[in-house]
Amino acid sequence: MKSKKAPATDLETIIPLLIGVWRRFTKLSGPPDRLQTREFRSVVAAVTKLQKGLEKGEELVAQDYFADSDLLGGYLLYQWLIHYQQGLSLIGEVPHGSIKRVLDIGSGPAAFSFAAMRHGATNVTAIDKNLTALQLGAEVCGRYGYPLTIRRQNVIKDTLPDGQYDLIILGHCLNELFPVKEPNHQTAMQNWIKGLLNKLSLQGQLLIVDSSLPEMNRRILQLRDFLVSEKVPVQAPCVWQGLCPALQGKTTPCYAQRPLDKPYHLKEIQRAAQINASSLKMSYLLLKNPHSNWPELQADKRYYRVISPAIETHGGKRFYLCGTDGKKNLGSHLKEESKETKAFHYLKRGELISIENPLEKGAQLDIVLGTTIQIKAALGKAVD
Ligand SMILES: C[S@@+](CC[C@H](N)C(=O)[O-])C[C@H]1O[C@@H](n2cnc3c(N)ncnc32)[C@H](O)[C@@H]1O
Repeated sequence: MKSKKAPATDLETIIPLLIGVWRRFTKLSGPPDRLQTREFRSVVAAVTKLQKGLEKGEELVAQDYFADSDLLGGYLLYQWLIHYQQGLSLIGEVPHGSIKRVLDIGSGPAAFSFAAMRHGATNVTAIDKNLTALQLGAEVCGRYGYPLTIRRQNVIKDTLPDGQYDLIILGHCLNELFPVKEPNHQTAMQNWIKGLLNKLSLQGQLLIVDSSLPEMNRRILQLRDFLVSEKVPVQAPCVWQGLCPALQGKTTPCYAQRPLDKPYHLKEIQRAAQINASSLKMSYLLLKNPHSNWPELQADKRYYRVISPAIETHGGKRFYLCGTDGKKNLGSHLKEESKETKAFHYLKRGELISIENPLEKGAQLDIVLGTTIQIKAALGKAVD
C-alpha cells in the first residue's frame, strides 16, 4: 500500500497558537505572532537550562521541572516545535493508514500527540505526571480543532489505561523513567517496555524517540538488541535482523536525521541559545506487535537503510548503509549515473533503498554498469 502524503508542518498557524496559549497562561499580552523582548529572553534562558539539564547533564532528570512555569514556557515555545516535527516525520513511517487509538506516555505538553492527530489519529490519550503541561497540551490541540484526552498519573507506579492501541509513543522520557544511576534500570526498562508491547493492537506499533547524543543513542541501540533477541519485529529503522553492527567492536552512533522546518521564531531562539541545529537528529525505534512479523521485503533484493550523510573520500562520495546483509558502504564507479542509478546522487540519510548487481568487495559496494538502485521508503514514509 502506498503511504499517504505527509501532513505539512503548518508552523505559521501553530507558532501563533502556542504563543496565544502561553499568553493566556501567563496573563501577559503582546503581538500574536512573535514574542516580546522580555518573553524572548525568558524563553531563551529556559531553553538553555532545559537543554543542559535534560540532555547534556542530569540536573533536571527525575525533577518535576514543568512545575517551574518559565521552564514549561520555554519547552512549549521551543522543544515542543522540535518534538512535534520529529513526530510528524516518524509517525509517517507507521505503515497502515489507520492510526486511530494512540497513547502518548510521558507526553508533557503533548507535541507527539499533536503530531499523531495531524496524521489522522482520532482517539489520543496523553499521560504525564504534570497536570499543567497536560492542560496546556490539550489547549493547543483544542485550539487547532483536535480533542485530546489527558490523564495525570505516574506511568511507572500506576496502572496504565486498559485497551489496545494502534500507536504508543514514548518521546524523550526513558532517561527520566529509568535513570541510569538507579540500580537495575536496564532490566526495569526492558520489562516495562515488554508490558507496553502487550497493549498494541495486532497492527499496532510502539514508537520510541530520544536524543541522538552518544549515551542515549547507545541505550536505544542496546534496547533494540534486547527486544530483537525477544523476537520483537522492528518496523524501522533496522532491516538487519541480527545484533546491531553499531554496537559491535568500537561503538559508533546510529541515529536518524530529517529536515527541520525553521521559521524566524525557531531561528531566533536557536541563535540566542547558541543551538547549532539545521536538521532534526534523533534516535528512534518503531517496533511491531510481538505477535506479528518483520516487514515483508522482496526476497530477491537486498535492502539497506542509509545511515550516514555523504562522506567525501579520495574515490568520490560514499554512504554507510545497514541492510538485510549487515553494514556496508556504497560508492560509484560511474562517471555519469544512468536512469537505474541516478538515485545515488540524491540519497539522504534515513532512506531505505534496494540495490541490485553492485560490484562487491567485502563491505564495499560500488555502482557499476548494470547496477540498479531504488528508493523503497523515502524519509518519513513507510516501506511500501
Ligand atoms: C522531556 S519530557 C518529554 C515530553 C514529551 N514526550 C516530548 O517529547 O515533548 C519528559 C516527560 O516525562 C514526564 N515524566 C517523567 N517521569 C514520569 C513518570 N514517572 N510518570 C509520568 N510522567 C513522567 C515529565 O513530566 C515530562 O513531561
